[in-house]
Amino acid sequence: MSTQNIAALRPAQGPESAAAVTRTQHRRRYLMCRPEHFTVSYTINPWMVPANPTDTALAVRQWQALYDTYIELGHEVELIDPVDGLPDMVYTANGGFLIDGIAYGPKFRFQERAGEEGPFIEWFRANGFDTRVPEEVNEGEGDFLLVGNTILAGTGFRSTGDSHREIGEIFGREVLTLTLTDPRFYHLDTAIAVLDPVEGVENGGPERANIAYLPAAFDAESQALLAERYPDAIHVSDEDGAVFGLNSASDGRNVIISPRAKGFERQLRERGYHPVLVDLSELLLGGGGIKCCTLELRGAS
Ligand code: ARG
Repeated sequence: MSTQNIAALRPAQGPESAAAVTRTQHRRRYLMCRPEHFTVSYTINPWMVPANPTDTALAVRQWQALYDTYIELGHEVELIDPVDGLPDMVYTANGGFLIDGIAYGPKFRFQERAGEEGPFIEWFRANGFDTRVPEEVNEGEGDFLLVGNTILAGTGFRSTGDSHREIGEIFGREVLTLTLTDPRFYHLDTAIAVLDPVEGVENGGPERANIAYLPAAFDAESQALLAERYPDAIHVSDEDGAVFGLNSASDGRNVIISPRAKGFERQLRERGYHPVLVDLSELLLGGGGIKCCTLELRGAS
């Protein structure tokens, strides 16, 4: 499908017909890593069971479909070379966090992924980013999500609270700490999807940057904070959360989601977004989905 064709597709009118809102697509630049060495040889999250067989060729085919989808939608995708012995490198979201041409590198919680730190940091340097080597444990965009001018920062399983202070100092933006409590949702990007990263008035009405999330993945304090900050957020069902429905990528209009997240697909259509379904079932064996395989490269503006 060409970009024009995709852009021409009208969102289905849901019963509420909130689809009256026209969503605006923003062009993205992403970093991805072909899963040539993908397998599950250790367990660092509840999804990973080394005894279950993995099919690397299938993982590559599914990943390729995601890559092709981004290109068809008009986005730019950069690639980092996969490294033998680093099977989780396909989850590039954990490789850093970038805003305004500044790249904050990763420092992984588990030794199994520590070998990825050097290649990601080298890639950012070689590609002209102002690269900062972190002091604190953090897993990049897996736990940091930019919503408008605010950085939502996850903790509880991987990135530490100290890394939240560190990114606040580096990027000079408000950082909102959110605590994850369910081990299945160990990274923030498994429990929150950012739908409109750009804050401000768009499409003739005051629209705020919106998110979708799974309330049950957070402690009570974080749930209260999210409810207050994002009163219009989509709350997804536990079923959709459990199939990594929230682990998705939005360009403001097209939202790439798992075909298993049926309820979320409907909720998105009702709000005027255009869901695009991509199945990464094989990569789910490593505990990752669409967003995990995608790192946004936000350049100097
Ligand atoms: N096996 C990887 C890990 O446990 C999966 C990472 C998923 N990435 C993400 N952004 N949620 O670290």
